[in-house]
Amino acid sequence: MSVEVIETIDAIRERLHPVLLSDDFMGLVPTMGAFHDGHLSLIRKARKDCDSVVVSIFVNPHQFGPGEDFRTYPRTLKSDLAHCEAMGVDVVFAPSVKEMYPREPLTFVEVDRLGDHLCGLCRQSHFKGVATVVSKLLNIVQPDRAYFGEKDAQQLAIIRRLVIDLDLQVQIVPLPIVREPDGLAMSSRNQYLEPPERERAPVLYRALQMAQQQIEAGETDSGSILGEARRVLEEEPLIEVDYLELVEPEEMQPVSEVTGPVRVCAAIRIGSSRLIDNILCEKPTTDS
Ligand code: PAJ
Repeated sequence: MSVEVIETIDAIRERLHPVLLSDDFMGLVPTMGAFHDGHLSLIRKARKDCDSVVVSIFVNPHQFGPGEDFRTYPRTLKSDLAHCEAMGVDVVFAPSVKEMYPREPLTFVEVDRLGDHLCGLCRQSHFKGVATVVSKLLNIVQPDRAYFGEKDAQQLAIIRRLVIDLDLQVQIVPLPIVREPDGLAMSSRNQYLEPPERERAPVLYRALQMAQQQIEAGETDSGSILGEARRVLEEEPLIEVDYLELVEPEEMQPVSEVTGPVRVCAAIRIGSSRLIDNILCEKPTTDS
């Protein structure tokens, strides 16, 4: 028997109505498909935690800017569904663009401040597209829990905040970044990398680890920490740094000094691809 796939909003609402009326705990894993082990870790956790698991697969045009890869974004529905089936997912919601946006939308969800910098700087209106589609998915499915990866830390911070600000009744569950053995964070876009680019891509994680080592060694000045990390990135001629920043984890605002937990966030360009990654760092505890 293959996994149940539902393509319309009316049909998924009808299918989930009895689940909502029951005591069953429902988990949603929102995705754009092209699964890798990062996606599978979210599904696995949802399966472990919840009575019913819904996975959504929707490549959302509103979060891609002009000139970005909406048209060429990898679409691997058949194998994604096979994974869902093997992992015991109850329902896959895979609507078309027309189903999600039957007319030009005039209503959007925007989270101020959190999306202004880092990825928001070079991907204008990306987070508006993400916040809007995630709000729609939460509204359609009405899960008790929704699962997101820390790989997209800014996206996660924005979703957490919109849930608080809009009083949505859902618990957001963050899960750690799943990496390749050489440290590269898994991403559906890694398949765009040419072999020499792929070989160099782990430099991104090495730079973040350098920043982490500095912080764990007691360095608190963000300029020095980022300077060391940038030097690691500059050793690779093929790459260009989009941003490299130290931010406080909740609102993702830049900090000049490490006084508590911080996230080091970076984006690089390598060939025609753009890679993002981040690492959460803790200041060493001083024993008194
Ligand atoms: P997508 O890129 O398909 O990612 C779906 C989920 O998988 C996100 O929560 C993302 O953070 C998580 N993820 C991706 N790579 C990961 C990794 N290496 N380790 C752990 N988790 C990882 O993010 C989106 O889709 C979209 O923006 C979406 C939220 C679905 C809205 O359209």
